[in-house]
Amino acid sequence: MSDHIVIERQDAVQIIRMNRPDKKNAITRAMYAEMAAALKAGDADPAVRVHVFLGVPGAFSAGNDLADFMAIATGGEGGTEVWDFLAALALVEKPIVSGVDGIAVGIGTTINLHCDLTFATPRTVFRTPFVDLGLVPEAGSSLLAPRILGRQGAFALLGLGEGFSAERALASGLIYKVVAEGELEAATLAAAREIAAKPPQALKIARDLMRGDPAELVARIKEEGEHFRARLMSDEARAALMAFMTRKK
Ligand code: COA
Repeated sequence: MSDHIVIERQDAVQIIRMNRPDKKNAITRAMYAEMAAALKAGDADPAVRVHVFLGVPGAFSAGNDLADFMAIATGGEGGTEVWDFLAALALVEKPIVSGVDGIAVGIGTTINLHCDLTFATPRTVFRTPFVDLGLVPEAGSSLLAPRILGRQGAFALLGLGEGFSAERALASGLIYKVVAEGELEAATLAAAREIAAKPPQALKIARDLMRGDPAELVARIKEEGEHFRARLMSDEARAALMAFMTRKK
């Protein structure tokens, strides 16, 4: 276990915290592996009733670590960690609540499409610059975002790469509530405790009915992943990744 993912239990609430502040919580393969393991372990433990995703002040996540993408773009092994995490997220059996403050890029946005309740702060911006990076939507977002945002909202997010402020995300149905920065974690954890206090069997059936059959979602994640891997080796993606890696600040 690295300290980039910190797992904590507060009674029936399992908190999965991304904790790599110096890189704005960019997610490495090791971090995906730890988050997938935590989701599975929490699902398997009857004492856990709800999962919570948190980041650090100012950064939920800057998305996949671009150095890891660069490694694949230049012929390296991609591993199965991202797939394992996305499959765990799509198939998770207990509700998920997320608390998002500040940067929420790429998977930092698309994780929330799988959450049952997302809290965000006024300074949060959700952004998925997949196409600008020569890539394609991932994590089932090509299926989930049109359902949540409608076709044109989804295109604005996933095609144009427009940033969605917390206010716009709330109005679009992408998130549940906007709360002040200082109240984010308390509000997120209070909602998680409220969920944890519900009759778990009734809640599971209700959630499963709302989510529908996850097979379609898993199939879409796989389909997106095939395109994504191929795109990583495209000239478009290589040029965009190189521009980020060699940018002058
Ligand atoms: N992968 C790897 N490193 C990342 C990263 C990522 N996705 N996002 C940020 N970092 C690193 C930066 O390289 C920098 O490292 P350094 O201090 O060693 O140079 C550090 O995190 C801080 O980032 P910085 O860019 O200085 O912070 P910022 O507040 O000015 O900007 C972002 C934050 C998120 C807007 C900007 O870092 C960014 O655009 N990152 C890439 C986001 C992205 O495209 N993600 C993939 C989506 S599919």
